[in-house]
Parts: sequence; structure tokens; C-alpha cells
Amino acid sequence: RERVTVPSIRNSKVRLGHEPISMITAYDFPGARMVDQAGADMILVGDSLAMVVLGHKDTLSVTIDDMVHHTKAVAAADPLALIVTDMPWMSYHTGTKDAVVGASKLIRAGASAVKIEGGAIRAKVIKAIVEAEIPVVGHLGLTPQSVNKFGGFRVQAKSNEQAQALLEDAKTVEAAGAFCLVLEAIPDVVAKAVTNTLSIPTIGIGAGAQCDGQVLVFHDILGYGSKKPPKFVKRYANLEELGIEGLARYVKDVRTGHFPDDTQTYHDSDGVISKLY
Ligand code: KIV
Ligand code: NA
Repeated sequence: RERVTVPSIRNSKVRLGHEPISMITAYDFPGARMVDQAGADMILVGDSLAMVVLGHKDTLSVTIDDMVHHTKAVAAADPLALIVTDMPWMSYHTGTKDAVVGASKLIRAGASAVKIEGGAIRAKVIKAIVEAEIPVVGHLGLTPQSVNKFGGFRVQAKSNEQAQALLEDAKTVEAAGAFCLVLEAIPDVVAKAVTNTLSIPTIGIGAGAQCDGQVLVFHDILGYGSKKPPKFVKRYANLEELGIEGLARYVKDVRTGHFPDDTQTYHDSDGVISKLY
């Protein structure tokens, strides 16, 4: 397969005959290798890092430096999938200059694009980053950095008024120069309207089957972590169970003297070591 590029994603509308885009999060070297070998089109170094890797209650705790650290680990896997990194909370809310400088750090860490939450209110910042030659992914609906405003992680755009507002935000994000748009936790009819209206692809997470692509969190797909995932997650493995089973067998082998055995042991095969005691 070929290296995935921003223009190739930009053109991947399902209505133009393209197959849906697949995107998975990754936060480290082995995770990025797994996602890339699974053949995903895009890797998102998500600020969900804060929750699924660091165990925090929301995404607000991670910084640009945290995102740089994890983007470097993902980029070290040299994936063919396109690397997008989330701009974390407070890295683009204090002005366009801070936003552009922050985005440049993520690009220098190995991302090819950055993701920004929000609609019309973020249009200026999206435009400024795009003008700095940094491709931008938008994100509307349940934007987790707005958790305190929303009063929790809740489905968005459930009223007609909010659905219309989201559609207007989506048009604004496209006009500001984003090359694709993540839609999170909204009714499928709203995602369908956005998908049909925009010329850039939509990537859904809890936004129904009509989007131009889908994204899920690595740990949710693989059942790696203790939390009960939201309704929109489909689990494809139970890595936690598999992992505990393997780790417990090791612990048992240590306790019963079955590990290490001869195959894991170095010997003085040349017989040069004299009696040490
Ligand atoms: O941080 C993240 O994982 C995300 C996706 C869920 C879209 O933003
Ligand atoms: Na995110």
C-alpha cells in the first residue's frame, strides 16, 4: 500500500466512489505499528491520551509538550497511515500566534496535520494554521474539551436548532480550510446532512454509518482498559483479559520455579569462569 497523504484523504468522499476512511488512535510506538499493520488510513494521536493512557477523568490535563512526546513515539513507527495529532485544550484558545506555534511543534514531532475542536468560534485559528502550511482536521458535536460547558460527555445536536447550528459550523470549518471533519456523538441524520453538504470528508465517531469514514479509540476497539466504553464503541478483542491471563501465567511460573528455564538462561559454555565462591 502507498503512503497516505492529505490530498488523498481530502478527496475521499464516499459519494465520489471512495471507500470509507478508517482512522484509529495511537499514542506510542507499538500501538502505531499495530494500527499501521492493520491497514488503517489515518492514525490520530488523540488527546484521549489523557483518559485511556493516563487515567484522567477528561482530556483537559494534557499539554502541547505531552502531545509532542507521544507524537514522536508514534512517528518513530514510520507508518504509511497519515498521522494527525490533537491540539490540546489551551493550545489554541489564547490567540492565533500561540496556535500556529503549537501546531508547528506537533509537525516537527512527526504529525502531518493537526485537529482542532469547534466551529465558527475557531475559524480564525483554523485559517491561521492552514496559512502556515499545516493541514487541519475539524471536530464538531461532542467536543470533549467542552466537557464542563456540556456538563458531561453527552450526545450533541439533538434539537433542530442545534442541528442547524452544527451544519453552519461545519460549513464554516470547511471554508476556513480544514481538509476533513470529525463528527462525534450526534444523531445519524445530522451527520448525514453534514456529509451531503460538505465537499471535505466527514469522519464519524458515534455519528452513524453515513459518514465518509469512522474513527475509534485504540483501547476501546481492543478492550484494553477497565472503563465501560460508550454506546458507539464496538469491541473487536479483549486485550485486558488476554493480557491478565498472560501476566498471571508469568507470575505463577516465577512462584513455582518454572521461569526461567534453560532456554532463557545464559551458560558458561566455554567453561572459563572459575569457582566464584
Ligand atoms: O482524542 C481522541 O481520541 C479523539 C477521537 C475520539 C476523535 O479526538
Ligand atoms: Na481528541
